[in-house]
Amino acid sequence: MNPPMKTIWNVHILTLFPEIFPGPLGHSLPGKALENGIWKLNAIQIRDFATDKHKTVDDTPYGGGAGMVMKPDVLDAALNSLPAGTRKIYLSPRGKKLDQALLHELSAVANVALLCGRYEGIDQRVIDAQGLEEVSLGDFVLAGGEVAAMALIEGVVRLLPGVLGNAETVDEESFAGGLLEYPHYTKPASWKGMDVPEVLLSGDHGKVKEWRLNQAKAITKARRPDLWQRYEALNTGNIRQKK
Ligand SMILES: C[S@@+](CC[C@H](N)C(=O)[O-])C[C@H]1O[C@@H](n2cnc3c(N)ncnc32)[C@H](O)[C@@H]1O
Repeated sequence: MNPPMKTIWNVHILTLFPEIFPGPLGHSLPGKALENGIWKLNAIQIRDFATDKHKTVDDTPYGGGAGMVMKPDVLDAALNSLPAGTRKIYLSPRGKKLDQALLHELSAVANVALLCGRYEGIDQRVIDAQGLEEVSLGDFVLAGGEVAAMALIEGVVRLLPGVLGNAETVDEESFAGGLLEYPHYTKPASWKGMDVPEVLLSGDHGKVKEWRLNQAKAITKARRPDLWQRYEALNTGNIRQKK
């Protein structure tokens, strides 16, 4: 019998700094998965698509103001070099906030392109002409899109089949069931005068499961009223717990 086909997730990064990839993605779980061919990284130098002698990628903003803007013609040419059907994302503080649901969605798309801006950002017309999807890492401003791209990639890669040892893990962690995760404890059972909750030592799987669910609910309610409200509204009732 043939071995099962490996999932190949292809990510194309358009950047002025391709040499910084894979960086942290070349280590630990994502690094191993990269080595094993579960995902592929294609770092594209945007400057290679500039046609003038000086390989210009940016220019001054119309209307004045500080900083430079990345040129639409150069970015358009770089984006046109991608395989047909590629989902094209521009990392941008103006975008939809990245979340676990979007990571799951992207993990099922064979080709994802991540355009990393620099300077003041990119010309609006290339966003419109290419129908770029804008995705933000959060409500703060980074110097460039590369770190945001790495965060997105790392989040997707750990969802790909064969990356995590225990396939259940992703079903149980924060956000998977609409709740933040319950607290974890390991040995020693007593440390700095703090004891591991009794129930976790009881060996009663039903009680452990119930305790974890209640902890997850309490933490979510206290820390993230937005998630708690959604959880209650959906009335999912339960999250999957470790056996
Ligand atoms: C200095 S920022 C530009 C900020 C822009 N002038 C603004 O005020 O929205 C340069 C690049 O960093 C990236 N970037 C900055 N903050 C980001 C965030 N929160 N999420 C994703 N990408 C971000 C984007 O690609 C952006 O084009």
